[in-house]
Amino acid sequence: MQTWDTDRYQIQHDFVWRYGEGLLPLLAAQPGEHILDLGCGPGQLTRQIADQGASVMGIDAAPNMVAPAQRNFPVLIFCLADARDFKVTAPCDAVFSNATLHWVTDPTAAARAIFRALKPEGRFVTEFGGQGNVQTITAAVDAAMTQAGLSAGSFPWYFPTLAEYVALLDQARFEVTFAQLYDRPTPLKGEDGLANWVRMFCGGALSDQPMATQEDVLHQVQDRVRSRLYRDGQWWADYRRLRIVALRPQ
Ligand code: BEZ
Repeated sequence: MQTWDTDRYQIQHDFVWRYGEGLLPLLAAQPGEHILDLGCGPGQLTRQIADQGASVMGIDAAPNMVAPAQRNFPVLIFCLADARDFKVTAPCDAVFSNATLHWVTDPTAAARAIFRALKPEGRFVTEFGGQGNVQTITAAVDAAMTQAGLSAGSFPWYFPTLAEYVALLDQARFEVTFAQLYDRPTPLKGEDGLANWVRMFCGGALSDQPMATQEDVLHQVQDRVRSRLYRDGQWWADYRRLRIVALRPQ
């Protein structure tokens, strides 16, 4: 499982929840609704859903996300739970999930758990990495590691095509009412933005190496992608998102 440096995540990767704000209008939380925020991270979007008057609970599989979320927003409820088999005590009006489901390598189990958590007509609103997400970066990491004599990175992510994910939800008995795959170039903070991204998210593949090797690989990655991912004085990650709204039918 990915382990998180939560302080660094909150400071350098706040774009994760800032971009997630764009998904809130699709959720359209109503006062009094019961909403589950699946993969709540440090809780900023959970708080925004609560601000709309809904009763919301955040769940996350990482203890070092749940603890800071609870510290950040002590009046809200956050629990440790796995997207593949979580259970709710009462069915929800909506399950919301931003930038989480690409970490869940059993998407069928997750879709079933989400379906079970919803009331009839309850909605599932999600955004996560789709086919081609961060492909320029990961290809460069692979190539740089191979050139350094290391085995290429094995990345743990699930980036389905739109058709594949819609079919999966269909199989799980959802009715998909909105589906979009779109490019969302994402600015990374500072001159070290790309290196920090790779350290944070590809760390497992690199972190066992001596520091000099890590630095060498990171320099190579930057050299390989600079012409495509460095513009206007900053690094951009080649994010590609799937955005989905699906209903649990009556
Ligand atoms: C993403 O949000 O698309 C993402 C984050 C970390 C690793 C891979 C993808």
